[in-house]
Amino acid sequence: MNIILIGAQGSGKGTQAQRLAASLGIRHVASGDLFRKAIDEGTELGQKAKTYIDQGKLVPDNLTVSMVLGRISEPDCASGVLLDGFPRTIVQAQALDEGLGRAGQRIDCVLYLEVPRNVLLKRLSGRYICKANQHVYNINTRPPKVPGICDLDGSELYQRSDDRGEAVQKRLDIFFNETVHLFDYYANQGKLAAVNGNQGIEEVAGSLLKAINDCREDV
Ligand code: AP5
Ligand code: MG
Repeated sequence: MNIILIGAQGSGKGTQAQRLAASLGIRHVASGDLFRKAIDEGTELGQKAKTYIDQGKLVPDNLTVSMVLGRISEPDCASGVLLDGFPRTIVQAQALDEGLGRAGQRIDCVLYLEVPRNVLLKRLSGRYICKANQHVYNINTRPPKVPGICDLDGSELYQRSDDRGEAVQKRLDIFFNETVHLFDYYANQGKLAAVNGNQGIEEVAGSLLKAINDCREDV
């Protein structure tokens, strides 16, 4: 099963996708995590992407599409993927449909995590993620047991460079002005379901699982 999780910055995609993918037995593939890994490793892709990411801008489609399609064609993604943060443009969505089509696959379900903008800003200002595996914490709503250390792998927690200053507003503007065009694209394919992301983390997880089960019944 191939699922897309769409949501604004801070809507909880990463928080939910890690556990959801594990419970469904599919791979969590997050474009932002792939870019941050490339930046940490100092690859050519990482160096190109960093300029855009630090300003809160989208990385150009050609770089993003080849990175994600490359990742999902690896053997560990053969039983399905949960895409987090990709696609974000119509060009990316079309390239994804074509890429999956060539492999005899398709997107089964697109879930939109709906959260009001004022809540998103509050969540992002309190977010910390771990260096080793990008596990997500929040100093207000989901603090680690030991300050500054990941509960799951013991690595150091840090604040993302794009969670500070103007980059945050820029990312939210891009989502509410540009990424929202994807809703029509997937609604026209009959694959879009909205889920209330403005609930506790457990409640959101339950709502997502329900939406996926509804979508399975439709297939
Ligand atoms: P990316 O890493 O995808 O970042 P994003 O879209 O900005 O989304 P976030 O990771 O900020 O939010 P999230 O929904 O994962 O929230 P989280 O679970 O962490 O992309 C980064 C950059 O890479 C982009 O700006 C762009 O430059 C580039 N990029 C990536 N993909 C691209 C693409 N396809 N095309 C072009 N460029 C691309 O939660 C946030 C906080 O809220 C956490 O602290 C968490 O603990 C807390 N929280 C979560 N759920 C709840 C809840 N229910 N209640 C209370 N708190 C909660
Ligand atoms: Mg994320």
